Amino acid sequence: MTEAILLVGGKGTRLRPLTVNTPKPMVPAAGVPFLTHQLARARAAGVDHIVLATSYLAEVFEPYFGDGSALGLHIEYVTEEEPLGTGGAIRNVASRLHSAPDEPVLIFNGDILTGLDIGALVRTHEESGADVSLHLTKVDDPRAFGLVPTDATGRVTAFLEKPGTPEEIVTDQINAGAYVFRRSVIDTIPTGRPVSVERETFPGLLSSGAHLQGMVDSTYWLDLGTPQAFVRGSADLVLGRAPSPAVPGRCGDSLVLPSASVAPDAKLTGGTVVGEGARIGEGARVTGSTILSGAVVGPGAVITDSLIGEGARVGARAALSDAVIGDGAQVGADNELRDGARVWCDAVLPSGAVRFSSDQ
Ligand code: GDD
Ligand code: MG
Repeated sequence: MTEAILLVGGKGTRLRPLTVNTPKPMVPAAGVPFLTHQLARARAAGVDHIVLATSYLAEVFEPYFGDGSALGLHIEYVTEEEPLGTGGAIRNVASRLHSAPDEPVLIFNGDILTGLDIGALVRTHEESGADVSLHLTKVDDPRAFGLVPTDATGRVTAFLEKPGTPEEIVTDQINAGAYVFRRSVIDTIPTGRPVSVERETFPGLLSSGAHLQGMVDSTYWLDLGTPQAFVRGSADLVLGRAPSPAVPGRCGDSLVLPSASVAPDAKLTGGTVVGEGARIGEGARVTGSTILSGAVVGPGAVITDSLIGEGARVGARAALSDAVIGDGAQVGADNELRDGARVWCDAVLPSGAVRFSSDQ
């Protein structure tokens, strides 16, 4: 059996207002807190002990997941008083690990939806004899990620986090946010201060001659760090494009949780999920969207690729596309919101207040 660390302490700034009341890993995707999918996938790969490294809104994780036994896991929680960064967070939980110095420890960023074959990453690590092995994926625009060029054998030659200049864009291979560390390498990270594993630990290990091995894998991969990506990821889980044993129901065009109510002539498509106690009005059309628990969508509303927060209300005939409505917000009838609009938690938008067209 293997053990794993999950990094779940980030502020989720780019996801606001979804992360005003809820840390990013606890925002529901396909009907359950996103983290559930990662935990269930780790369990399915044979992981039995998981340490959650928490910081921002740390208090909400344990009441939900408890000791992890419902998922067949033993989960422990370690909270940073002040955020320690990704490397500092890893070092900070080292005392909870049971692995011997040469044994592999898995580490996951807490906002990645992927079909990665976790067992294959561990095997790559063991066969290559690396100090650290990294899951790599190829993306069209690597600038928002850690760039990881490798040689012909897959050995990592550099680590360039969020490159600032065009000359630094030397590859389209990026750090996909899943690592296997030899346990003893974790113990070399400095304690008691913030450390970035991407900006400090990986470059430091490379310059000291350590062996970092990359495993490029082109399976489904998405960083759920922005509202657009989060909504996409949730829809892909519902559609079955992204694999997870934790989707509460059968995969298909939509997922309606048991206590939700949907008008008979409403249309739910494209991986839409309707959360507990949410209500969808007559003739509404909801495509590729996430409607969180207790939210209300009025009659005739048209909602596309959007997220409606807990208990938020969207009025009749409102048209939303690529929009995020914060928890408890009220969007009056006949509003038109598009292109990344974010309505803050509890905000109230009167009827017909925002339009992108000249009629009302
Ligand atoms: N405990 C703890 N403490 N966790 C943290 C902290 C901290 O101080 N800071 C960040 N995290 C967690 C976040 O919650 C997230 O799960 C993970 O570390 C990565 O942080 P992000 O803020 O999501 O980083 P990113 O998406 O900009 O970049 C990272 O992921 C990319 C892949 O999605 C880097 O690892 C890149 O190299 C990588 O390409
Ligand atoms: Mg991220």
